Amino acid sequence: FESGVLAGQRVVITAGPTQEPLDPVRYISNHSSGKMGYALARAAIEAGAHVDLVSGPVALTAPDRVQLHRVTTAKEMLDACMNLVNDCDIFIGCAAVADYRPVTAAEQKIKKSEEEMSLQLVRNPDVLAQITNCSPKPFSVGFAAETEKLREHAIGKLERKNLDMIVANDVSDSSIGFNSENNAALLLWQNADGDGELNIEQCSKDVLASMVVAQISAIQQRKR
Ligand code: PMT
Repeated sequence: FESGVLAGQRVVITAGPTQEPLDPVRYISNHSSGKMGYALARAAIEAGAHVDLVSGPVALTAPDRVQLHRVTTAKEMLDACMNLVNDCDIFIGCAAVADYRPVTAAEQKIKKSEEEMSLQLVRNPDVLAQITNCSPKPFSVGFAAETEKLREHAIGKLERKNLDMIVANDVSDSSIGFNSENNAALLLWQNADGDGELNIEQCSKDVLASMVVAQISAIQQRKR
């Protein structure tokens, strides 16, 4: 796409998983590698944006010129994003934020005892929903990781979280989604100028990220 389409804009991107500690040596997490979020950061930099990348623990190197904010838990990710939202034009939530965390993180390693044990979990804050509640609200893009009813669930998230656009990916297919080199997605958007969608066939995460950035810019142009 045309270079410089996001020139002068400040973009905040979340990437990777969060880790929710159970004790000093264990945590609850998921398979997100950060590859999709880091590809978005590269695409936004190439498009001329200033990029803050709020990243959970991943084994990737941040792209040059990106401002990296490392976090571990959902609460830390929320705090880092809230500190950046005032200066943010575009927010892209690509992180796989853990929906729940253990009620308490034990100070010492939990010892083996009974045959069975239960964990009590509590809901984590929704980073994206809190960002879209801010005023002024940045142009907000969410991801939807689905294993069934991709479109239906994605539309629900687009509306519930008050998003400008959602990137829905099917994570039941291991060749795309979590921790793979490629992805495929259904982009859905809604705004005062109307609704739209774009189906992106399987391609590298870098190509998909460039297409997401181009679509964000196209929608912004129409708004002006
Ligand atoms: O990191 P990779 O290995 O490259 O994999 C990429 C990916 C599959 C993780 C990515 O493409 C993706 O789908 N990310 C979103 C994963 C997810 O948590 O989706 P969700 O449908 O549960 O959440 C919907 C949206 O709300 C997401 O934008 C998520 O960032 C956000 N959310 C969810 C829960 C929460 N507590 N806070 C949030 O901000």
